[in-house]
Amino acid sequence: MRSFVTTISALGMAAGIVFAMPANIAQAADPTLSKKDFEEAKTLYFQRCAGCHGVLRKGATGKGLEPATTRKLGQKRLEKIITIGTEGGMNNFDDLFSKEQIAKLATYIQMEVPPPAEMGLAEMKKRWKTYIKPADYPKKPMHALNWKNFFMVILRDAGKIGIIDGDTKKVVTKLNTGYAIHVMKESSTGRFWYTQGRDGLMSKIDLWMNPPKVVATAQVASDARDVAVSHYGKWKDKYVIGGGYWPPHFVILDAETMEPLKVVSTRGVNIDGEYVNEARVAAVYNTPNAPTWMVAVKELGQMWQVDYSDLDNLRIEQINTHKFLHDGFFDPTQRYFQIAANASNRMEFLDTETRKAVGSLETGKKPHPGLSNVSAYGTD
Ligand code: HEC
Repeated sequence: MRSFVTTISALGMAAGIVFAMPANIAQAADPTLSKKDFEEAKTLYFQRCAGCHGVLRKGATGKGLEPATTRKLGQKRLEKIITIGTEGGMNNFDDLFSKEQIAKLATYIQMEVPPPAEMGLAEMKKRWKTYIKPADYPKKPMHALNWKNFFMVILRDAGKIGIIDGDTKKVVTKLNTGYAIHVMKESSTGRFWYTQGRDGLMSKIDLWMNPPKVVATAQVASDARDVAVSHYGKWKDKYVIGGGYWPPHFVILDAETMEPLKVVSTRGVNIDGEYVNEARVAAVYNTPNAPTWMVAVKELGQMWQVDYSDLDNLRIEQINTHKFLHDGFFDPTQRYFQIAANASNRMEFLDTETRKAVGSLETGKKPHPGLSNVSAYGTD
Protein backbone atom coordinates (compact mmCIF):
# COMPACT_ATOMS: atom_id res chain seq x y z
CA MET A 1 0.00 0.00 0.00
CA ARG A 2 2.71 2.46 0.97
CA SER A 3 4.55 1.90 -2.23
CA PHE A 4 1.37 2.68 -4.13
CA VAL A 5 0.94 6.03 -2.36
CA THR A 6 4.56 6.80 -3.20
CA THR A 7 3.91 6.00 -6.85
CA ILE A 8 1.06 8.51 -6.93
CA SER A 9 3.24 11.25 -5.38
CA ALA A 10 6.01 10.45 -7.82
CA LEU A 11 3.56 11.14 -10.63
CA GLY A 12 3.17 14.63 -9.28
CA MET A 13 -0.24 14.24 -7.66
CA ALA A 14 -0.87 17.03 -5.16
CA ALA A 15 1.87 15.77 -2.85
CA GLY A 16 1.92 19.12 -1.08
CA ILE A 17 -1.70 18.82 -0.03
CA VAL A 18 -1.14 15.36 1.39
CA PHE A 19 1.77 16.59 3.50
CA ALA A 20 -0.13 19.69 4.62
CA MET A 21 -2.86 17.56 6.22
CA PRO A 22 -2.33 15.91 9.60
CA ALA A 23 -1.20 12.39 8.71
CA ASN A 24 -3.92 10.59 10.69
CA ILE A 25 -6.77 12.50 9.01
CA ALA A 26 -5.31 12.00 5.54
CA GLN A 27 -5.00 8.26 6.15
CA ALA A 28 -8.40 7.79 7.73
CA ALA A 29 -10.14 9.58 4.87
CA ASP A 30 -8.15 8.11 2.01
CA PRO A 31 -9.89 5.22 0.24
CA THR A 32 -7.26 2.86 -1.16
CA LEU A 33 -6.98 -0.07 -3.55
CA SER A 34 -4.14 -2.48 -4.19
CA LYS A 35 -2.18 -1.61 -7.30
CA LYS A 36 -3.79 -4.50 -9.20
CA ASP A 37 -7.35 -3.51 -8.20
CA PHE A 38 -6.57 0.13 -8.99
CA GLU A 39 -5.45 -0.80 -12.51
CA GLU A 40 -8.55 -2.96 -13.01
CA ALA A 41 -10.86 -0.18 -11.80
CA LYS A 42 -9.01 2.36 -13.95
CA THR A 43 -9.60 0.22 -17.05
CA LEU A 44 -13.28 -0.34 -16.20
CA TYR A 45 -13.73 3.38 -15.58
CA PHE A 46 -12.06 4.24 -18.88
CA GLN A 47 -14.11 1.72 -20.86
CA ARG A 48 -17.52 2.26 -19.28
CA CYS A 49 -17.64 5.59 -17.46
CA ALA A 50 -15.18 8.04 -19.06
CA GLY A 51 -17.42 8.59 -22.09
CA CYS A 52 -20.00 10.36 -19.90
CA HIS A 53 -17.94 11.54 -16.92
CA GLY A 54 -14.64 12.45 -18.68
CA VAL A 55 -11.18 10.88 -18.36
CA LEU A 56 -10.29 13.54 -15.78
CA ARG A 57 -13.66 12.93 -14.03
CA LYS A 58 -14.55 16.61 -14.36
CA GLY A 59 -17.94 15.68 -15.76
CA ALA A 60 -19.38 15.90 -19.26
CA THR A 61 -22.81 14.43 -19.98
CA GLY A 62 -22.61 12.90 -16.48
CA LYS A 63 -21.70 14.80 -13.30
CA GLY A 64 -18.18 15.51 -12.09
CA LEU A 65 -16.75 12.58 -10.10
CA GLU A 66 -13.84 14.20 -8.33
CA PRO A 67 -12.96 13.09 -4.77
CA ALA A 68 -14.49 16.20 -3.17
CA THR A 69 -17.94 15.09 -4.44
CA THR A 70 -17.64 11.33 -4.37
CA ARG A 71 -16.20 11.11 -0.85
CA LYS A 72 -19.26 12.98 0.42
CA LEU A 73 -21.50 10.35 -1.16
CA GLY A 74 -19.40 7.55 0.38
CA GLN A 75 -18.71 3.93 -0.55
CA LYS A 76 -22.20 2.50 0.09
CA ARG A 77 -24.14 5.18 -1.78
CA LEU A 78 -21.70 5.07 -4.72
CA GLU A 79 -22.03 1.30 -4.98
CA LYS A 80 -25.81 1.71 -5.05
CA ILE A 81 -25.69 4.38 -7.79
CA ILE A 82 -23.39 2.24 -9.95
CA THR A 83 -25.48 -0.89 -9.31
CA ILE A 84 -28.96 0.45 -10.06
CA GLY A 85 -28.28 3.77 -11.82
CA THR A 86 -30.39 6.91 -11.30
CA GLU A 87 -33.48 8.42 -12.85
CA GLY A 88 -31.40 11.35 -14.10
CA GLY A 89 -29.69 9.39 -16.88
CA MET A 90 -27.08 7.23 -15.18
CA ASN A 91 -27.51 3.63 -16.28
CA ASN A 92 -27.29 0.55 -14.04
CA PHE A 93 -24.20 -1.62 -14.21
CA ASP A 94 -25.28 -4.68 -12.22
CA ASP A 95 -25.73 -6.61 -15.47
CA LEU A 96 -22.16 -5.84 -16.59
CA PHE A 97 -20.06 -5.88 -13.43
CA SER A 98 -19.70 -8.21 -10.44
CA LYS A 99 -20.32 -6.87 -6.91
CA GLU A 100 -16.56 -6.81 -6.35
CA GLN A 101 -15.98 -4.77 -9.50
CA ILE A 102 -18.66 -2.28 -8.47
CA ALA A 103 -17.05 -1.97 -5.02
CA LYS A 104 -13.65 -1.35 -6.62
CA LEU A 105 -15.09 1.28 -8.94
CA ALA A 106 -16.85 3.02 -6.04
CA THR A 107 -13.51 3.19 -4.20
CA TYR A 108 -11.61 4.17 -7.32
CA ILE A 109 -13.77 7.22 -8.00
CA GLN A 110 -13.11 8.48 -4.46
CA MET A 111 -9.36 8.43 -5.09
CA GLU A 112 -7.35 11.19 -6.75
CA VAL A 113 -7.61 11.12 -10.54
CA PRO A 114 -4.47 9.52 -12.03
CA PRO A 115 -2.97 11.75 -14.72
CA PRO A 116 -3.62 10.11 -18.10
CA ALA A 117 -0.65 9.91 -20.45
CA GLU A 118 -0.12 12.44 -23.22
CA MET A 119 0.51 11.13 -26.74
CA GLY A 120 2.80 12.97 -29.17
CA LEU A 121 3.69 12.42 -32.80
CA ALA A 122 6.75 10.24 -32.05
CA GLU A 123 4.65 7.86 -29.93
CA MET A 124 1.96 7.73 -32.63
CA LYS A 125 4.58 6.88 -35.27
CA LYS A 126 5.82 4.05 -33.04
CA ARG A 127 2.29 2.63 -32.88
CA TRP A 128 1.67 3.03 -36.62
CA LYS A 129 1.54 -0.34 -38.41
CA THR A 130 1.54 -1.22 -42.09
CA TYR A 131 0.15 -4.65 -42.97
CA ILE A 132 0.12 -4.18 -46.73
CA LYS A 133 2.15 -1.46 -48.45
CA PRO A 134 0.19 0.84 -50.79
CA ALA A 135 2.43 -0.35 -53.69
CA ASP A 136 1.12 -3.88 -53.08
CA TYR A 137 -2.57 -2.95 -53.05
CA PRO A 138 -4.52 -4.76 -55.79
CA LYS A 139 -5.09 -2.81 -59.01
CA LYS A 140 -8.57 -4.29 -59.41
CA PRO A 141 -11.03 -6.08 -57.07
CA MET A 142 -9.67 -9.55 -56.17
CA HIS A 143 -13.16 -11.01 -55.78
CA ALA A 144 -16.28 -11.04 -57.94
CA LEU A 145 -18.52 -9.62 -55.18
CA ASN A 146 -20.41 -6.35 -55.60
CA TRP A 147 -18.26 -4.35 -53.13
CA LYS A 148 -20.22 -1.17 -53.86
CA ASN A 149 -23.17 -2.87 -52.15
CA PHE A 150 -21.36 -4.02 -49.01
CA PHE A 151 -22.71 -3.14 -45.57
CA MET A 152 -20.18 -2.27 -42.89
CA VAL A 153 -21.45 -3.32 -39.47
CA ILE A 154 -19.85 -2.34 -36.16
CA LEU A 155 -19.60 -5.33 -33.79
CA ARG A 156 -18.84 -3.06 -30.88
CA ASP A 157 -18.15 -5.37 -27.98
CA ALA A 158 -16.43 -7.98 -30.16
CA GLY A 159 -13.97 -5.32 -31.37
CA LYS A 160 -14.71 -6.16 -34.99
CA ILE A 161 -16.24 -4.84 -38.20
CA GLY A 162 -18.57 -7.23 -40.01
CA ILE A 163 -18.88 -6.88 -43.78
CA ILE A 164 -22.12 -8.12 -45.35
CA ASP A 165 -22.72 -8.52 -49.08
CA GLY A 166 -25.90 -6.56 -49.82
CA ASP A 167 -26.65 -8.69 -52.92
CA THR A 168 -26.53 -12.11 -51.24
CA LYS A 169 -26.98 -11.03 -47.58
CA LYS A 170 -23.98 -13.23 -46.72
CA VAL A 171 -21.24 -12.27 -44.28
CA VAL A 172 -18.15 -11.57 -46.40
CA THR A 173 -15.74 -11.35 -43.46
CA LYS A 174 -15.17 -10.04 -39.96
CA LEU A 175 -12.15 -7.85 -39.31
CA ASN A 176 -10.37 -7.13 -36.04
CA THR A 177 -10.42 -3.38 -35.62
CA GLY A 178 -9.86 -3.02 -31.88
CA TYR A 179 -12.01 -1.91 -29.02
CA ALA A 180 -15.47 -0.43 -29.62
CA ILE A 181 -15.39 1.19 -33.04
CA HIS A 182 -17.32 4.42 -32.74
CA VAL A 183 -17.42 5.71 -36.31
CA MET A 184 -16.20 4.75 -39.79
CA LYS A 185 -16.00 6.89 -42.94
CA GLU A 186 -15.22 6.03 -46.55
CA SER A 187 -12.78 7.25 -49.20
CA SER A 188 -14.39 9.14 -52.09
CA THR A 189 -14.51 5.93 -54.17
CA GLY A 190 -16.00 3.88 -51.34
CA ARG A 191 -13.16 1.37 -51.73
CA PHE A 192 -11.28 2.24 -48.54
CA TRP A 193 -12.88 2.59 -45.12
CA TYR A 194 -11.36 4.30 -42.12
CA THR A 195 -12.47 3.38 -38.61
CA GLN A 196 -11.89 5.06 -35.26
CA GLY A 197 -12.24 3.05 -32.05
CA ARG A 198 -12.87 4.45 -28.60
CA ASP A 199 -9.29 3.46 -27.79
CA GLY A 200 -8.04 5.86 -30.50
CA LEU A 201 -6.97 3.08 -32.88
CA MET A 202 -7.63 4.00 -36.52
CA SER A 203 -7.77 1.24 -39.16
CA LYS A 204 -7.79 1.46 -42.94
CA ILE A 205 -9.75 -1.29 -44.70
CA ASP A 206 -9.46 -2.23 -48.40
CA LEU A 207 -12.67 -3.74 -49.82
CA TRP A 208 -10.86 -4.95 -52.96
CA MET A 209 -8.83 -7.56 -51.08
CA ASN A 210 -10.14 -11.11 -51.01
CA PRO A 211 -11.45 -11.09 -48.36
CA PRO A 212 -11.35 -7.38 -47.44
CA LYS A 213 -8.48 -6.62 -45.05
CA VAL A 214 -7.12 -4.06 -42.62
CA VAL A 215 -4.11 -2.68 -44.52
CA ALA A 216 -2.75 -0.22 -41.95
CA THR A 217 -3.46 1.09 -38.45
CA ALA A 218 -2.38 4.04 -36.33
CA GLN A 219 -3.26 4.92 -32.76
CA VAL A 220 -3.68 8.67 -32.29
CA ALA A 221 -5.28 8.93 -28.83
CA SER A 222 -6.22 6.78 -25.84
CA ASP A 223 -9.87 7.82 -25.97
CA ALA A 224 -11.45 8.95 -29.24
CA ARG A 225 -14.69 9.20 -31.19
CA ASP A 226 -14.49 10.22 -34.84
CA VAL A 227 -12.68 10.20 -38.16
CA ALA A 228 -13.10 11.96 -41.54
CA VAL A 229 -11.40 11.85 -44.94
CA SER A 230 -10.48 14.81 -47.17
CA HIS A 231 -12.79 14.71 -50.19
CA TYR A 232 -12.27 18.11 -51.81
CA GLY A 233 -10.48 18.93 -55.10
CA LYS A 234 -6.87 17.88 -55.44
CA TRP A 235 -6.77 16.77 -51.78
CA LYS A 236 -9.33 14.04 -52.47
CA ASP A 237 -8.42 10.97 -50.35
CA LYS A 238 -5.07 12.55 -49.41
CA TYR A 239 -5.62 13.01 -45.67
CA VAL A 240 -7.54 11.43 -42.80
CA ILE A 241 -8.29 13.23 -39.55
CA GLY A 242 -8.82 11.52 -36.20
CA GLY A 243 -10.26 13.42 -33.23
CA GLY A 244 -9.15 12.67 -29.64
CA TYR A 245 -11.10 12.82 -26.39
CA TRP A 246 -7.83 12.15 -24.57
CA PRO A 247 -5.43 13.70 -25.23
CA PRO A 248 -7.75 16.48 -26.40
CA HIS A 249 -6.41 17.00 -29.89
CA PHE A 250 -6.88 16.10 -33.54
CA VAL A 251 -4.37 14.35 -35.73
CA ILE A 252 -3.98 14.56 -39.50
CA LEU A 253 -2.70 11.36 -41.16
CA ASP A 254 -1.64 10.41 -44.67
CA ALA A 255 -4.75 8.64 -46.02
CA GLU A 256 -2.67 6.37 -48.21
CA THR A 257 -0.18 5.07 -45.64
CA MET A 258 -1.89 6.06 -42.34
CA GLU A 259 1.31 7.78 -41.22
CA PRO A 260 0.45 10.38 -38.56
CA LEU A 261 1.58 13.79 -39.89
CA LYS A 262 0.36 16.55 -37.62
CA VAL A 263 -1.08 16.94 -34.12
CA VAL A 264 -3.11 19.99 -33.07
CA SER A 265 -4.20 20.46 -29.45
CA THR A 266 -7.79 21.53 -28.80
CA ARG A 267 -7.13 22.57 -25.21
CA GLY A 268 -8.05 26.19 -24.88
CA VAL A 269 -10.39 28.90 -23.73
CA ASN A 270 -14.11 28.24 -24.10
CA ILE A 271 -16.80 30.66 -25.31
CA ASP A 272 -17.16 31.95 -21.70
CA GLY A 273 -13.46 32.82 -21.48
CA GLU A 274 -12.54 29.87 -19.20
CA TYR A 275 -9.53 27.62 -19.84
CA VAL A 276 -10.52 23.99 -20.51
CA ASN A 277 -7.86 21.30 -20.29
CA GLU A 278 -10.15 18.46 -21.38
CA ALA A 279 -11.62 20.12 -24.49
CA ARG A 280 -12.58 16.99 -26.41
CA VAL A 281 -13.06 16.48 -30.13
CA ALA A 282 -16.56 15.03 -30.38
CA ALA A 283 -17.07 14.74 -34.12
CA VAL A 284 -15.32 15.53 -37.40
CA TYR A 285 -16.88 15.96 -40.85
CA ASN A 286 -15.63 16.51 -44.35
CA THR A 287 -17.10 19.68 -45.91
CA PRO A 288 -18.16 18.96 -49.51
CA ASN A 289 -17.72 22.58 -50.70
CA ALA A 290 -14.32 23.53 -49.22
CA PRO A 291 -10.93 21.93 -48.49
CA THR A 292 -11.81 21.71 -44.82
CA TRP A 293 -13.10 19.54 -42.02
CA MET A 294 -15.56 20.63 -39.35
CA VAL A 295 -14.12 19.71 -35.95
CA ALA A 296 -16.52 19.91 -33.02
CA VAL A 297 -14.60 20.91 -29.88
CA LYS A 298 -17.22 19.83 -27.40
CA GLU A 299 -16.38 21.68 -24.18
CA LEU A 300 -15.13 24.87 -25.86
CA GLY A 301 -18.46 25.40 -27.60
CA GLN A 302 -16.59 26.00 -30.84
CA MET A 303 -16.67 24.46 -34.28
CA TRP A 304 -13.18 24.55 -35.72
CA GLN A 305 -13.15 24.67 -39.50
CA VAL A 306 -9.74 23.18 -40.28
CA ASP A 307 -8.32 23.91 -43.73
CA TYR A 308 -6.19 21.01 -45.01
CA SER A 309 -4.89 22.74 -48.15
CA ASP A 310 -1.66 23.80 -46.35
CA LEU A 311 -0.67 21.69 -43.35
CA ASP A 312 2.43 23.80 -42.57
CA ASN A 313 0.40 26.98 -42.34
CA LEU A 314 -2.75 25.52 -40.91
CA ARG A 315 -5.71 27.84 -41.12
CA ILE A 316 -8.44 27.24 -38.56
CA GLU A 317 -11.61 29.27 -38.10
CA GLN A 318 -12.67 28.97 -34.46
CA ILE A 319 -16.40 29.48 -34.81
CA ASN A 320 -18.27 30.26 -31.58
CA THR A 321 -21.48 28.27 -31.06
CA HIS A 322 -22.67 26.71 -27.78
CA LYS A 323 -21.00 24.23 -25.46
CA PHE A 324 -21.27 20.42 -25.61
CA LEU A 325 -21.19 19.97 -29.37
CA HIS A 326 -22.03 16.44 -30.34
CA ASP A 327 -23.06 15.30 -33.83
CA GLY A 328 -24.49 16.81 -36.98
CA PHE A 329 -25.12 16.73 -40.71
CA PHE A 330 -25.26 18.80 -43.90
CA ASP A 331 -28.37 20.18 -45.54
CA PRO A 332 -29.13 19.06 -49.14
CA THR A 333 -27.09 21.96 -50.64
CA GLN A 334 -24.03 20.54 -48.80
CA ARG A 335 -23.19 24.09 -47.77
CA TYR A 336 -24.93 24.48 -44.42
CA PHE A 337 -23.99 22.27 -41.54
CA GLN A 338 -26.05 21.74 -38.42
CA ILE A 339 -24.84 20.20 -35.20
CA ALA A 340 -26.28 19.51 -31.77
CA ALA A 341 -24.94 21.28 -28.70
CA ASN A 342 -26.58 18.49 -26.75
CA ALA A 343 -26.36 19.47 -23.08
CA SER A 344 -27.19 23.09 -24.08
CA ASN A 345 -30.42 21.82 -25.73
CA ARG A 346 -29.58 23.54 -29.00
CA MET A 347 -28.92 22.98 -32.68
CA GLU A 348 -26.24 25.19 -34.24
CA PHE A 349 -26.18 26.25 -37.91
CA LEU A 350 -23.00 26.99 -39.85
CA ASP A 351 -22.22 28.17 -43.36
CA THR A 352 -19.18 26.16 -44.47
CA GLU A 353 -18.50 28.51 -47.41
CA THR A 354 -18.24 31.76 -45.39
CA ARG A 355 -16.92 29.67 -42.45
CA LYS A 356 -19.29 31.36 -40.00
CA ALA A 357 -22.12 30.49 -37.62
CA VAL A 358 -25.45 31.65 -39.04
CA GLY A 359 -27.93 30.63 -36.36
CA SER A 360 -28.82 28.66 -33.25
CA LEU A 361 -32.10 27.05 -32.28
CA GLU A 362 -33.38 25.97 -28.90
CA THR A 363 -34.69 22.38 -29.01
CA GLY A 364 -36.16 19.84 -26.61
CA LYS A 365 -33.94 17.98 -24.22
CA LYS A 366 -30.58 16.82 -25.54
CA PRO A 367 -30.83 16.79 -29.35
CA HIS A 368 -29.02 13.84 -30.93
CA PRO A 369 -29.70 14.15 -34.66
CA GLY A 370 -27.43 11.42 -36.01
CA LEU A 371 -26.43 11.80 -39.62
CA SER A 372 -29.50 13.32 -41.24
CA ASN A 373 -32.64 13.18 -39.18
CA VAL A 374 -34.23 16.57 -38.55
CA SER A 375 -37.23 14.93 -36.88
CA ALA A 376 -34.97 13.59 -34.13
CA TYR A 377 -34.89 16.98 -32.35
CA GLY A 378 -35.94 16.69 -28.75
CA THR A 379 -35.23 12.99 -28.33
CA ASP A 380 -32.73 11.60 -25.88
C1 HEC B 1 -24.51 7.21 -20.49
C2 HEC B 1 -23.79 8.12 -19.67
C3 HEC B 1 -23.21 7.61 -18.36
C4 HEC B 1 -22.36 6.56 -18.15
C5 HEC B 1 -21.82 5.60 -19.20
C6 HEC B 1 -22.06 6.56 -16.75
N1 HEC B 1 -22.71 7.58 -16.13
FE1 HEC B 1 -22.62 8.02 -14.15
N2 HEC B 1 -23.99 9.50 -14.44
C7 HEC B 1 -24.51 9.88 -15.64
C8 HEC B 1 -25.47 10.96 -15.41
C9 HEC B 1 -26.27 11.67 -16.49
C10 HEC B 1 -25.47 11.20 -14.04
C11 HEC B 1 -26.33 12.21 -13.29
C12 HEC B 1 -27.54 11.42 -12.84
C13 HEC B 1 -28.54 12.15 -12.00
O1 HEC B 1 -28.40 13.36 -11.77
O2 HEC B 1 -29.51 11.48 -11.57
C14 HEC B 1 -24.53 10.27 -13.45
C15 HEC B 1 -24.25 10.20 -12.09
C16 HEC B 1 -23.29 9.40 -11.54
C17 HEC B 1 -22.94 9.40 -10.15
C18 HEC B 1 -23.60 10.27 -9.08
C19 HEC B 1 -22.84 11.56 -8.99
C20 HEC B 1 -23.50 12.56 -8.04
O3 HEC B 1 -22.82 13.55 -7.71
O4 HEC B 1 -24.68 12.39 -7.68
C21 HEC B 1 -21.95 8.49 -9.97
C22 HEC B 1 -21.24 8.14 -8.69
C23 HEC B 1 -21.67 7.92 -11.28
N3 HEC B 1 -22.51 8.50 -12.19
C24 HEC B 1 -20.69 6.97 -11.52
C25 HEC B 1 -20.52 6.33 -12.74
C26 HEC B 1 -19.62 5.23 -12.95
C27 HEC B 1 -18.68 4.66 -11.92
C28 HEC B 1 -19.78 4.86 -14.25
C29 HEC B 1 -19.12 3.71 -14.97
C30 HEC B 1 -19.29 2.40 -14.39
C31 HEC B 1 -20.78 5.73 -14.84
N4 HEC B 1 -21.19 6.61 -13.91
C32 HEC B 1 -21.18 5.66 -16.16
C33 HEC B 1 -24.22 9.35 -16.87
C34 HEC B 1 -23.43 8.24 -17.08
